[in-house]
Formats: sequence, structure tokens, C-alpha cells
Amino acid sequence: MAPIISIRDLTKTYDGGFEALKGVSLDIEDGEILALLGPNGAGKTTLISAVCGLVTPTSGSVSVGGHDIQHAFRAARALIGLVPQEITIEPFEKVINTVRFSRGLFGKPTDEAHIEKVLRSLSLWDKRHSRNQELSGGMKRRVLIAKALSHEPRVLFLDEPTAGVDVTLRKEMWQLVRELRGQGVTIILTTHYIEEAEEMADRIGVIDHGRLLLVEQKSQLLHQLGRKELLLELCEPLAEIPPSLAAYGLTLSEDRLHLSYAFDSHAERTGMTRLLADIAGAGLNLRDLSTHQSSLEDVFLKLVHDGRRDVA
Ligand SMILES: Nc1ncnc2c1ncn2[C@@H]1O[C@H](COP(=O)(O)OP(=O)(O)O)[C@@H](O)[C@H]1O
Ligand SMILES: [Mg+2]
Repeated sequence: MAPIISIRDLTKTYDGGFEALKGVSLDIEDGEILALLGPNGAGKTTLISAVCGLVTPTSGSVSVGGHDIQHAFRAARALIGLVPQEITIEPFEKVINTVRFSRGLFGKPTDEAHIEKVLRSLSLWDKRHSRNQELSGGMKRRVLIAKALSHEPRVLFLDEPTAGVDVTLRKEMWQLVRELRGQGVTIILTTHYIEEAEEMADRIGVIDHGRLLLVEQKSQLLHQLGRKELLLELCEPLAEIPPSLAAYGLTLSEDRLHLSYAFDSHAERTGMTRLLADIAGAGLNLRDLSTHQSSLEDVFLKLVHDGRRDVA
């Protein structure tokens, strides 16, 4: 299937000469949740803004549903809903009018049933006659999402949907995003929270210093780069690693009570069974053992670190 969004060699140099995007290419598949993960200043908002036609790229191209964002702006933009990073809603307007108005801006005919559906799915129906300023922070964010969904876009961009939001609201947002995906909306969200990308995304793109360092299925990312560690707790402190265990590359902790063994959990042979037999053979008694999977955080920090080194 053709990607819903296709980004090719996109660069953006702002007036003043700052290169915020240095050649980004990316295809976004219909129906996926893609998280663009990167630190502040990485270029996430610039990338989203260029895809939505709000920032003119210096070079490169973007097409949305086959429409070029620059040459066929209206057709391309109609397929996109954008929830910006900053809360921008008219304080005195009523919720329902805010959403109706937004639909009108896209030249879509009135459809009260759709507006009702959107407001209900965001738990805003009971608040439809409230003024925006009377709403809590979490509700205001939901109004922004309702606005973005008012014209029935196929793709929804959420720019840092949970920045500065408390834990409860963050979890609500995650739930909401899953429900939207369930309704067939393609979702691209930016975040600098690794946990959020790990929790939400089907695919994760890591962006830093205007470059897309990688984009990969989340499971694949953890699979490829994730390593597992087997931690063995000994009954008695060990003076040194016995020569019969030298081949395993074990490390002994400072308290001399823990041995750790790094392995690839997807390899045909992890070496674990033999290691445990050799440990017994060396006369070591175990009190406990556990395994630990590298988190996306480990992977991300490594990538950003290595990426910086490459660029420098
Ligand atoms: N209008 C602008 N003019 C000049 N520089 C900008 C402008 N907007 C963003 N930048 C710079 O581009 C870089 C990327 O910004 P941005 O895309 O907002 O990053 P992110 O959303 O990942 O935090 C930052 O260094 C920022 O200061
Ligand atoms: Mg941003």
C-alpha cells in the first residue's frame, strides 16, 4: 500500500541561517502510530510544521495522500488534523462552536452528527455549552483534539501532547490515542518522553539535530538493539571469577556478590544453560537470579550519543 505521507529529503534553514532539518526522508503508513522521539530543539515541531504546510521547506518535498503540500496545499491539508504544542483556543467561545468553526474552515458541510461523535469520543459532550476558559487543562487539550478531528482528517499530528501534563492526564491521553487509532486514524506524535514512545508507538523515529537517526518498528528496535542481562546473586562473596568461567565475559560486582552475563536473547543459543552448569561445576551457590532487558531508554541514549559523535 502507498504510504499516506511521504517526506523526501526535507531541509529547513530558518532566516538567520539555523539548519533545523538537514535532509529528512520518511514514509508514514496508513493506520500506524508513529512516535517522533527527540530532545528539545531536535526539529520535531519544524518537521511537523513543514508536513502540515505551516513552514516552507528550504528543499525537499512532502506529499499527503498523493497531494503535494506546496502545490496542492488545500487537498493535502484537508487530510491532516494538527494539534499544536501550545494551547490556542478562543477563551470565550463555547466548546461546540469552536469545533464547528474549525470544520467550517476546511470548507466541509455542516455535520452535527460528526461533531457530536467527536465530542462524545473525547468526553466533551456534557461540556459542549461551556466556554473554553471554564475548562480544565486536560479538557482544553481535548478541545484542541476535537478541533483537529472536526473535518474528518485521515492523519492526526499531536505535537508533544503530554508535555507538562500530570501522570493521570498523560495516561488518559494515551488511552485516547489508542481509541483514535482503533477508529482508523493514522497518528504521528512527537515526544521527548521515551516512556511515551515506548508505550504508544507502533514505530519510532529518533530525531536529533535535524536528522532522523533511525525509524524502526518498536519491537524491532528493542529486538535489534536490546540486550539482555542475566544477574546472578551468589551466596558467598567471590574473590575472583574462576578460570573455568572466563569464556563467558562475566563481570563481578564491587560487593563481589553479583555476577552479570550479557547475552542476546534472540540468538539461537544464549549460553545460559551451559553457564549455569559451569557455575555449579565451579562450586558456586546461587541465592537468586534475574534477567533484565535493555529499555528503549538505553537504546535511545546510545543512539543520540553515537549520532552526536558522528556529526561532531
Ligand atoms: N522560526 C524560527 N526561527 C529560527 N529558528 C527556529 C525557529 N523555529 C525553531 N527554530 C530552531 O530550530 C530548532 C528546532 O526547533 P523545533 O523544531 O521547535 O524543535 P523541537 O520541536 O524538537 O523542540 C531549535 O534550535 C529552534 O531554536
Ligand atoms: Mg516542539
